[in-house]
Formats: sequence, structure tokens, C-alpha cells
Amino acid sequence: MIPTLEWLPEGVNFLDQTKLPMEETYVLATDYRQVATVIRDMIVRGAPAIGVSAAMGMALGIDRSAATTLAELTAEVAIIARTLAETRPTAVNLFWGIDEIRSLFNSLAATNTAIAEIKSAVIARARQMYDEDIAACKQMGAHGAALLPMEGTVLTHCNAGALATCGYGTALGVIRAAIERGHNISVFADETRPFLQGARLTAWELMKDNIPTTVICDNMAAALMRQGRIQAVIVGSDRIAANGDVANKIGTYGVAILAHEHGIPFYVAAPWSTIDLATSNGDQIPIEQRSPVEVTHINGRQMTPTGVRIENPAFDVTPAKYVAAIVTERGVLRAPYAESIRAMASGTPRPAKLASA
Ligand code: MRU
Repeated sequence: MIPTLEWLPEGVNFLDQTKLPMEETYVLATDYRQVATVIRDMIVRGAPAIGVSAAMGMALGIDRSAATTLAELTAEVAIIARTLAETRPTAVNLFWGIDEIRSLFNSLAATNTAIAEIKSAVIARARQMYDEDIAACKQMGAHGAALLPMEGTVLTHCNAGALATCGYGTALGVIRAAIERGHNISVFADETRPFLQGARLTAWELMKDNIPTTVICDNMAAALMRQGRIQAVIVGSDRIAANGDVANKIGTYGVAILAHEHGIPFYVAAPWSTIDLATSNGDQIPIEQRSPVEVTHINGRQMTPTGVRIENPAFDVTPAKYVAAIVTERGVLRAPYAESIRAMASGTPRPAKLASA
């Protein structure tokens, strides 16, 4: 299994995804501020991995605190949470990861639990979230595998694999599960400009698993769809609004429109922690703007005229109407998403038409 991140006695160890595929090196964060930097600089990236990293950052901050009273520690927890929350705005999993640990801390502090006991409890919860993330990915695979063709090629955008989670992956987890169940599937990986998560990361991890993979430039998907060479699209998500609008890596919206035009199903796989019930539609999802240097330079080499204006939104929003199904660890959601998401959130049994395909 690919060790994306790991809790160690010395701190949190991260596979440096900025160096892949050429170098497999690790960055050890021994302080919560370093975890924040690792998230901001995309040494770790992908919504579920960011969520668990934030939880581990909280646990690390609490564990390493020199506070001797609960009042002091409570004040520090607020600073740790704020520091981690200011790293990346789009993936709601970040805030979920912070809130899981903060709520546990608050409930233990409210009952005057000893600081040493609080430290062990938050570390245990962060490590449990790591295990739960892998289990959720496996569940998504089990629910979503049947959506993919028995034979054919699936397009994916960005990296929604083991590297974007604690292991196995969301969209790539569904592909892995389908292959484990006997589907004969190969993958087109969009290169995913400007950060090249598809070319660098998806290709790297699928090749490690011997899954037949072809990298294409982002502007090639339309031609391949027109030639009948893509049977399904599956991507991950950074935040899904309560109406089913899906924020994901920049370029996803275009892929969804292309899939719609060519009659190809467009699926999304994401853990329940990616669904943001407090955000009613995609227009309300904050979109991270990243440094122009990611666009102007490739591998340190300038590609654009000095001084040209640059836009670099890291994510876009795909309207729910283009999404054929959303695969979660709880089951498969179908349109109308406002209804199916609400029903799944309340644990109400889903009507037959919403059952897994
Ligand atoms: O900027 P990134 O690399 O963190 O963006 C990642 C994505 O957009 C993924 O597709 C998404 O987080 C789903 S990961 C399972």
C-alpha cells in the first residue's frame, strides 16, 4: 500500500507528492505549523488525505503543547485549529478533520479530563480516522464497481487515488474494485494542468498496481470521446453541496460537459465527509486561487512572457445535472440529489430508484 501519510512517535510523516514520480521522499512534521505548511504546499493533497492530515495536525499540536492547565490548552487549540483552517479553502474535509478533533477535545475538557488523557484520546481518534478513511474507500469501491463497464476505458481527472486518501482511493478505488471483481478496465488519466496530478500521481500509482494507464493532455479528451474510446468518467471531489453540485480539480466541469455531449456517464466518488450540507449549492463553494507561478512555470522553467496576467483557480464546480451518480461509503446517490443526499444524511432507507446500479 502507498504510505501517503503516517502517524509516527516522532510526528506525522508525509510522502512528498511534489517530488513524485521522480523521487519517493518523505517530510516529517514534528509541529502542527509544519503540518499546515505541508498541506498549503501540497506535499499532501487530495480532499480525504487533507482531512486526516488536519486531524493529525490537531492531535500533534495538542500532544506537543506545553500547557499545564486546561484553560491554556483550550486557548492553544483555538490557535492550532485556525492555523490549519487557513491552509486551503475548498476541500471541506479539511474543516471536518479539524472539527472532529476539536469536538473531542471540547467534550473531554468539559468533563475536566486530565491533559495526559486528552492527549492520548486525540491521537487515538486521529489514527482511527486514518483507518476509517481506508475503510470508506473500500466501501466506495464495493458500492461503485458495478457502475463501471465490464470492458472498456475509463477517464479520470486529477488524482483521486491512494495518494489523495489514506489508501486505495475514491475514484481510483472504484476502478481498483471493479478490476478486482473481474472488469477489464484501462484508464485514461488527464494530465491535469497546471499541477499535473494526473500525469505525475495517477499514472504513478496506477502503474504500481499494473493497471493499464495512458496519460493524455487535458485538451485530448473530447477527440477520444468522439472516437468512442471512453466508456465512463469517474472523478473525486473536494466538496459536494447539498444540491449535488460538485467542486473538484479545475477542468472537471469541462470533462463533465464533454461526457454529457457524448452520452458518457460521469460519476463522482467521495466519502460522506466531502458532502457539505451547510452549503446549499455550488456557487457558495469557496474556490482556492493558487500562485501564478504554477501556470507560468513548468519544472522551474518559465513558459509565458514575463508580466503576462495569469488566472489560477484550483477548482471548478460541476452542476449536479451532469452527474450520473455519486458514490459514497454509505451507498450510491442518484438525482435528484437534494432529496437523495437529505435521505442518506438522515439515515432514511433510500427509495428503490436510488439503490446502487
Ligand atoms: O489540489 P488537489 O490536488 O488537492 O486537488 C485534488 C482533487 O481535486 C481531487 O480530485 C479531490 O480532492 C478528490 S481526492 C479523493
